[in-house]
Amino acid sequence: MAAEPGAVNPTLEAIEIQLLLEGIALHYGYDFRDYAPSPLRRNIVMSMAMEGVPTISRYQERILHDPESFERFLDAAGVNVTSMFREADALLYVRQEIVPWLRTFPSVQFWVAGCGTGEDVISLAIVLHESGLLHRSRIYATDINGRSLSIARTGRYPLENIASAEADYARSGGRRSLSDYYLASGDLVRFDRSLLAGVTWARHNLSTDASFNEFHVIQCTNVLTYFSVPLQERVHRLMHDSLASAGYLILGRLESMIRWQKRDSYQRVHPTAGVYRKVRR
Ligand SMILES: C[S@@+](CC[C@H](N)C(=O)[O-])C[C@H]1O[C@@H](n2cnc3c(N)ncnc32)[C@H](O)[C@@H]1O
Repeated sequence: MAAEPGAVNPTLEAIEIQLLLEGIALHYGYDFRDYAPSPLRRNIVMSMAMEGVPTISRYQERILHDPESFERFLDAAGVNVTSMFREADALLYVRQEIVPWLRTFPSVQFWVAGCGTGEDVISLAIVLHESGLLHRSRIYATDINGRSLSIARTGRYPLENIASAEADYARSGGRRSLSDYYLASGDLVRFDRSLLAGVTWARHNLSTDASFNEFHVIQCTNVLTYFSVPLQERVHRLMHDSLASAGYLILGRLESMIRWQKRDSYQRVHPTAGVYRKVRR
């Protein structure tokens, strides 16, 4: 029986989504094929409505021929949403419990994976600065999105976003004002360059790229939530292999459940924040 005009045929829709994701992966190198299906479908349908495109096939054509449309898709898909001191409880734990351990090393290595536009890198750098550890820290900050990394490198953000982060900064144990760390000019603020002096920014795709160093702390917050279980497992293996013995893994608080067969390699060390310690190779 033919479908009603305008009605969604779920089988056809699944094929169209698969073709859209193949096209995006081949053309832009973004691989959404292993992302969790329902939030991804929701984001596609929402973006199509915003672009005024009636079918996923037409949307595929638009996205492949119009890079700006693809960038709008990335923004609408929510994969870029971030804020400073978003994981305030985890950062308080870093100050109180992880920093004393890190002080026993002559130099310390961090990996912030999926750092987006860099707000969580600045937040970590401020915590390390206030703990007297920033000068011997190296932070590798990586993301799949080159556009986000170029914003991150500038250390410039809209003033209104930063003002709303003051409360989270205080919750992370901050005792100053964030305004001590930036200069405002019009609607923008620019963070003190010294905060980012020890940061190496690089493109790295968690779906396909390999481990590139060993780290005392790996922070990968609000990234795994977009991945399917097989991709989460791949990323967990990568992070576990990249973590020094007794090192810490920091996930988002809503990602606390480790989707990984070898989860007993970690001990959860915080009751609500997603902070784990590697206890086994
Ligand atoms: C919601 S943002 C989270 C940013 C920040 N970590 C936070 O907690 O606010 C998700 C980030 O993951 C990045 N991302 C998505 N897929 C990725 C992949 N396969 N490899 C590396 N980064 C990825 C996106 O580009 C985006 O910057």
